[in-house]
Amino acid sequence: MNYKEGMLVHGALDNQVILVTGGGTGLGASMSRYFLSLGAKLVISSRKLAVLEATADALEKETGGLVLPLACDIRDHNAVSEMYGKAKSHFGKVDAVVNNAAANFISPTQRLSPNAFHTILDIVLKGTSNMTLIAGQDWIKDQKSGVFLNIVTTYASTGSAFVVPSAAAKAGVLAMTRSLAVEWGPLGIRSNAIAPGPFPTEGAWERLLPGHMAEKFNPAKRVPLGRVGDHQELANLAAYLISPFSAFVNGEVITIDGGEWLQGAGQFNGFREVKEEEWNALTSKRKKTD
Ligand code: COA
Repeated sequence: MNYKEGMLVHGALDNQVILVTGGGTGLGASMSRYFLSLGAKLVISSRKLAVLEATADALEKETGGLVLPLACDIRDHNAVSEMYGKAKSHFGKVDAVVNNAAANFISPTQRLSPNAFHTILDIVLKGTSNMTLIAGQDWIKDQKSGVFLNIVTTYASTGSAFVVPSAAAKAGVLAMTRSLAVEWGPLGIRSNAIAPGPFPTEGAWERLLPGHMAEKFNPAKRVPLGRVGDHQELANLAAYLISPFSAFVNGEVITIDGGEWLQGAGQFNGFREVKEEEWNALTSKRKKTD
């Protein structure tokens, strides 16, 4: 057994209807694939219908499950409301929402136009709040339990240079996760988050590490475990947080980054670079002066 394999028992998500924003590509599609293989019915949403339809078709063939692709710009409250309504009338209910859709520009902040800044805030924070309000209000009205899983990032807690709108928006999503865990927990609605470190995806990877940047800032080298994440690892964690196995987990953010953010935090962590011979030299020097 290893981290590239599915973790949960077969049928762990039987009959659950899960709505994944940004489910047409990247990590959203990987999580969706695993949810389906565990028995869930899926709604995937993003702006591009053709991409969603192709993914839905491929996932249905691969898993034998049911996938409803619905195009929607999550910045638009009415569009999200309409999309949620279609999902609910198609499957009869929605049990869980994965707020996964995101956008990011890597740029010195002073180079961003106000519109660029607001575009990221709108997609990440307003998009998540639209989706959360609509699903939450519906669950509360129906006196139905539900689960939110918000995909944030490790720099939602630490902040990060050169992705400031994303950091600000994801920090907002994290605050929303913790706040609603308390406010809506008594109503049977759990809210949790995952903070992933580097997981290669075609879209985000190319956008955030363009050209020679991927070589210069090789993410695997920043990770104490010496590698990037595998999509199945994230899918395993996401499926657990959606499933009834995590029924007592509420308001939590789980970091899955191989120790990457801590590597950047500890004052002496750069000493990972010190070679064995250098340590030997330092030790013998110390012994001489002791
Ligand atoms: N760096 C800085 N600014 C950028 C940019 C970049 N790479 N790309 C676009 N902008 C600016 C635009 O110039 C525009 O500002 P302006 O009107 O002042 O010129 C503003 O951002 C909005 O751009 P626009 O292309 O009109 O926005 P959109 O709403 O059509 O699409 C995205 C925005 C983010 C959805 C689109 O770029 C996209 O699809 N990105 C891929 C998704 C993504 O980012 N994934 C990563 C997830 S981590």
